[in-house]
Amino acid sequence: MASSDPKAHNNPDFQLQEIFNVKDKVCLVTGGGSGIGLMLVQALAVNGAKVYICGRTEEKLQQVADTYNQGISGQIIPITCDISKKNEIAGLYDQLSKKEQRLDILINNAGISTKTFQTEASSADEMKKNLFENQDATFEDWDDIYRTNVSQCWFMSTAFLPMLDKATQQQHGWSSTIINITSISGQVKTSQHHPQYNASKAAQIHLTRMLAEEIQVNGLKIRVNNIAPGVFPSEMTAGESGANQKSHVPKDKYESKVPAARPGNDRDMAGTLLFCATCQYLNGQTITVDGGYTLAAGR
Ligand SMILES: NC(=O)c1ccc[n+]([C@@H]2O[C@H](COP(=O)([O-])OP(=O)(O)OC[C@H]3O[C@@H](n4cnc5c(N)ncnc54)[C@H](OP(=O)(O)O)[C@@H]3O)[C@@H](O)[C@H]2O)c1
Repeated sequence: MASSDPKAHNNPDFQLQEIFNVKDKVCLVTGGGSGIGLMLVQALAVNGAKVYICGRTEEKLQQVADTYNQGISGQIIPITCDISKKNEIAGLYDQLSKKEQRLDILINNAGISTKTFQTEASSADEMKKNLFENQDATFEDWDDIYRTNVSQCWFMSTAFLPMLDKATQQQHGWSSTIINITSISGQVKTSQHHPQYNASKAAQIHLTRMLAEEIQVNGLKIRVNNIAPGVFPSEMTAGESGANQKSHVPKDKYESKVPAARPGNDRDMAGTLLFCATCQYLNGQTITVDGGYTLAAGR
């Protein structure tokens, strides 16, 4: 029953360091060596979390660890792994489970985008030429995208369930969490000239909700959500990154496409992640962070 004593209050619960507390959390971020992944890694490690990062390129991961481990209360630990291969996922689980008792936060961020296509056409023949006869339009390309953006996400999540479950069991008031990085590309009605990427991201959004459902039906307390970003600087959007593994997208490139009139930045992504990771009442949801992109583009 609520206290009628005006002096009894729970104000400390409302402090930022209570609500968004990720101190000492054990995390794994796939694709943590650049772009959005690196933003997520910093948001956690700067606030005291122990963050394992994986990707296929050892130098990128080591560069991130060397650059961003300094002067922070958490830790960044690189492990090379191709998460589109089941045996490598199993190996990653073995490595991590030998080092850690539990996994508090799993972020399936790694993703790829491949070929683009001209979808605009003035006749059926032209549309067929662009989208079917084009040398780049192959089943293999669709398979590659699905393998990295969709299937991988399912296998990474199911592989790590035992460590995620232990995290919930071991910490009163904490439910471990899987956060998938999807995209507004899976929400907008247009293909944005890469239909295979957009279809994969829509599938990944559905996968998130489906996985959340299968987990809760089995009585496990592991929350599964996804963040659908709009445009953020990364190797995918800028084509490269600098010596500090950060990328740059010119502001004017998206000025007319995004109501915010700019690409997203580190703080936009950090705030979204800390909310998703710590809000114990959030499950099965998509959090779109896009500066209003989908408002303008339409879903
Ligand atoms: N940037 C945007 O505007 C935007 C918008 C919406 C959604 N997203 C999503 O955000 C996520 C991150 O992408 P990003 O934009 O930050 O691009 P990015 O800089 O290219 O980052 C992707 C990371 O994933 C890693 N990766 C790719 N395939 C992998 C594999 N098989 N195994 C392990 N790691 C792998 C890459 O490292 P290696 O190549 O070294 O393996 C790379 O560090 C993706 O899922 C993307 O679809 C991005």
